[in-house]
This record gives sequence, C-alpha cells and structure tokens, in this order.
Amino acid sequence: MKTSNTNILLLVSLILAFEFLILCNGQGTLLSKTFYKKSCPKALDIIKNVTSSKVAANSALGAKLLRLHFHDCFVRGCDASVLLDPVGTGQTEKQSIVNTFLSGYDVIDNIKTAVEKVCPDVVSCADILALAARDSVSVPFGKPMWDVLLGRRDGNVSLLTDTFVQLPAPFSNFTSLKTLFASKKLNLNDLVTLSGGHTIGVSHCGSFSNRLSNFSSTSNTDPSLDPAYANLLRTECPTNSNPEVEMDPQSSLSFDNHYYKILFEKKGLFQSDAALLTNRDATTIAQKFTNNKKFFEEFGKSMQKMGAIEVLVGKVGEIRKQCRVVNSK
Ligand code: HEM
Ligand SMILES: *[C@@H]1O[C@H](CO)[C@@H](O)[C@H](O)[C@H]1NC(C)=O
Ligand SMILES: *[C@@H]1O[C@H](CO)[C@@H](O)[C@H](O)[C@H]1NC(C)=O
Ligand SMILES: *[C@@H]1O[C@H](CO)[C@@H](O)[C@H](O)[C@H]1NC(C)=O
Ligand SMILES: *[C@@H]1O[C@H](CO)[C@@H](O)[C@H](O)[C@H]1NC(C)=O
Repeated sequence: MKTSNTNILLLVSLILAFEFLILCNGQGTLLSKTFYKKSCPKALDIIKNVTSSKVAANSALGAKLLRLHFHDCFVRGCDASVLLDPVGTGQTEKQSIVNTFLSGYDVIDNIKTAVEKVCPDVVSCADILALAARDSVSVPFGKPMWDVLLGRRDGNVSLLTDTFVQLPAPFSNFTSLKTLFASKKLNLNDLVTLSGGHTIGVSHCGSFSNRLSNFSSTSNTDPSLDPAYANLLRTECPTNSNPEVEMDPQSSLSFDNHYYKILFEKKGLFQSDAALLTNRDATTIAQKFTNNKKFFEEFGKSMQKMGAIEVLVGKVGEIRKQCRVVNSK
C-alpha cells in the first residue's frame, strides 16, 4: 500500500537522522586532519613556522602552550575560551587563581595575526592552540609528534568560576582525578598518559608546598614524597616567596618518559602525580611507559582525545577574528 510505504520511508529516514545525530555527538568524529586543506592550505605551515621561531627564542614555551591547550580543553571544551580577555565586570577563565601562571597568549596572538593575513576568518583560535601545543613540543624532534585533528570552532563564553569545577587540582586524589577525567570522556589510560605532560615545564612552590611542612597531623612531610627530594625542595622554596622549580628535574626541557622514572622514585611533584601510584591499574600503565616509544604513541592518542573534548563544530561557535575577544555582531 502506498501509505505504509510512506510510513516505512519515514521510519527509515528517522532512524538515519537519529544515527547521524549520534555520530555528530561522538566528539572528534567531525574533526579531521585535512580540515583546512582547501580553505587555508598554508595554515599548518604558518603555525609551525611561527611556533618554531618562538620556541627557538624561548625553550620554556613548549610547556606553556601544552598547558594552555589542556586548560582550554578541560573548561567548556577546546573552544579557546581560555584565551578570552575580560570585558566590563565579567570575569573570564584566565583571571582564575588556578590560571595565574598560564602564559603564551601573546604567541597565539602572533600566530593568529600571521594566519589572518593569508586566510582571514577561516582558522579558529581553538585549532591554532591545538596545533601550537603540538608544534612547540615537537620542535626538538624535528617532526610532528602527533596528528592534530581540526575543525574546532571558537566559543563565546568564558567564566572564571568554571575553572574551579572543571580543572584538576595539584592536591587531587586518585578518585577525583579519575572522576574528573571520566567526565571529559577520558579514561584511566588517558589520565596516566596525559599526566606525563609534566615531563616538561615548571611549577611554582605554592602548588606543592603543603607537602613539605605541616602536611598532616601525623606527618610533617607528605610520606608519598621522597624525603631527600623533599629536603631539596624545601631549600628551593623559601616560605616568603613563590619561585619556580623544574617539575622533572634536569629533564624539564626534554619531552620524554623521564616523568615516569622519577614518579617511581617518589619524586612526582604534586599529590596528583603521586596519586597515580595509589592505584594498581594506573601503576601498571605507568610502568609500561618506562618504554619511551610506548609513551610517545599513547601520548599522541590521548592528546587527540583531549583535543576533542566538547568541541564546537559545523555551524555552532564562530571563527574569532582576534583570539582574545569574541566577534562583534
Ligand atoms: C592530572 C591532573 C593535572 C594536574 C592536577 C595538574 C596541575 C598542574 C600544576 C599545579 C602545575 C604548575 C602550575 C604552577 O604552579 O606554575 C602544572 C604545570 C604543568 N602542567 Fe599540569 N596538571 C595536570 C595535568 C596536565 C595535563 C593533562 C597536561 C598536558 C597534557 C599538563 C601539562 C602541564 C605543563 C606542561 C605544565 C608546566 C607549565 C609551565 O612550565 O609553565 N598537566 N600542572
Ligand atoms: C615556513 O618555513 C620554511 C623554512 O624556513 C619555508 O621554506 C616556508 O616557506 C615557510 N612557510 C610558510 C607558509 O611561511
Ligand atoms: C578524594 O577527594 C575527594 C574530594 O576532595 C574527597 O571527597 C574524597 O573523600 C577523597 N577520597 C579519598 C579516598 O581520600
Ligand atoms: C604548622 O602548623 C602550626 C599549627 O597549626 C603553626 O603554628 C605553624 O606555623 C605551621 N608551620 C608552618 C611551617 O607552616
Ligand atoms: C554565543 O554562541 C551561541 C552558540 O554558538 C549563540 O547562540 C549565541 O548567540 C552567542 N552569544 C553571543 C553573545 O554572541
């Protein structure tokens, strides 16, 4: 009959539409390596060139850009919300105390300016940040360390208060880390792998000084911290100032698996690092990364998952003209 045929057709198209929706919701499925191939074929080279010249002038930059990308993705997804400057009395993510030591914003601005000159209004700030993080870490290797999937669009909301809820704290225990990562669709393997980001960069003493004195009613120093290392940190961290220390001593500029080696020596700097060894499965994963090749492989995969958190794609969001401000209507 004609009507039942129409009904079946309707049903089939409903099912197809539903499946399409599910596919679209699968984060990252709409990102692609070749997103700018036609619309801005030079974008990736420009971003790589500007990033490498900045890293050549400041080798600490790789860590800054990697952390900036992480803090972008965990708060409202990878939508460049972390880059937005406050307007009026509205307080944005970058003003949060947990983001005090983020930097690299000026480098993103420089890259954006260079890209806009060649293809205006095409490349999102969120994609630039994802690429710059990858490229800055990759400079010493002379080749891209992982593929960055592209097509993110920029958000128009940035709230200081989001940062407290959505970012892990250096004193987070294993349960809260695992729960928080799971809320971003990142699993235990991703947690252990991405914590390896602490193989580069620095921390201010204030982020771990609670481990060095008056730690608990039973122990002055955090028992999960190597006592000799705690002594060294105490000398580097005078109580009246808040200097920086290397997170992976003597190896803080080299992106490698050294983080896991010192983790097993109880020299992970944060409680969140030490917390990984409080879980058997996490410990097993960390042990696997005493093989550098395995760490690099997994890090790339987990960065792709992190880079796909709650991304805006298609028609939602916008391509910002300037990374620090939303477009005016
Ligand atoms: C697992 C939960 C994590 C916690 C609790 C955490 C916490 C922190 C803290 C407190 C600092 C030092 C801030 C300061 O005092 O200056 C830091 C630095 C850093 N974090 Fe994390 N982080 C985590 C995960 C990650 C991830 C997933 C990445 C990237 C993949 C990352 C990359 C970095 C880098 C590169 C630095 C050094 C930044 C610099 O040199 O300025 N972290 N992190
Ligand atoms: C990037 O740098 C390379 C090497 O300096 C140069 O050959 C190339 O033309 C640059 N590409 C762009 C798009 O600026
Ligand atoms: C972990 O931290 C959370 C949040 O501070 C707390 O509620 C929970 O009791 C802690 N879990 C353990 C096992 O200590
Ligand atoms: C440790 O705690 C005690 C009691 O709360 C306090 O008097 C002392 O100043 C603290 N010491 C340090 C180094 O913070
Ligand atoms: C922010 O973006 C959303 C979704 O893309 C849009 O609906 C809304 O109008 C935008 N708001 C402003 C103030 O631009």
